[in-house]
Amino acid sequence: MRKPILAGNWKMNKTRDEVIQFTLAVTNRLPDDVDCIVCAPAIYLRDLVKRSPSHLHIGAQNMHEKDFGAYTGEVSPIMLKDTGVEYVILGHSERREYFNETDEKINEKIKKALEVGLKPIVCVGEKLETREAGKTNELLESQITKAFTGVTIDDTANVVIAYEPIWAIGTGKSADAKTAEEACGFIRNVLGKVLSPKVASEIRILYGGSVKESNISEYMAERDVDGALVGGASLKPESFIELCEKTA
Ligand code: PGA
Repeated sequence: MRKPILAGNWKMNKTRDEVIQFTLAVTNRLPDDVDCIVCAPAIYLRDLVKRSPSHLHIGAQNMHEKDFGAYTGEVSPIMLKDTGVEYVILGHSERREYFNETDEKINEKIKKALEVGLKPIVCVGEKLETREAGKTNELLESQITKAFTGVTIDDTANVVIAYEPIWAIGTGKSADAKTAEEACGFIRNVLGKVLSPKVASEIRILYGGSVKESNISEYMAERDVDGALVGGASLKPESFIELCEKTA
């Protein structure tokens, strides 16, 4: 039985006051049978770890692949771990597109996150032109295979995958539930080959891209969708609570 996940990706949003207000607003209001996560800007992670109710899990949105060194402006995986963070989003399409993150770099980050004991939320997904060219599965297979090169089966209990079609992110044009299920099912098959069928049946796979309170139940009704990675709709505490409830 895979426990559902609702992960909020706040991206580069919120002031510190708003972060604190959020933690107060969600206290005692999140369901126990869902892993409720917020992935926040690095500068707020310590506040969140200290102030959040125990059933709100905290994640970062990125990390460097090295422990320490001369990498001005970067945040190290050791620092995240030290701060008490549990999850880290890796390979988000905005990082791939605006910060030139390659599959190889993402693979290094996944291995490092697992080594230090962080749980990676690994994002994959296609551009509109890839879908229109009928090459979605080819791309997903390549992204997943490269992401998990050199990762051993023993490490993967803590891995989460997010299928996020780029054309659906922040556009209001979400993928329909059938499209999400097809992609998540395909990813599970690829994981079966790359890792093992048992691991693939246990890994949680999320859908992301314009998920909101009004459509989340459609995705949760699908067999291979174990939750959602939500950007815009996760920012307000009331919406976040409703999304978490509907993920259960
Ligand atoms: P969105 O973002 O829910 O605002 O479309 C999702 C994401 O980028 O993770």
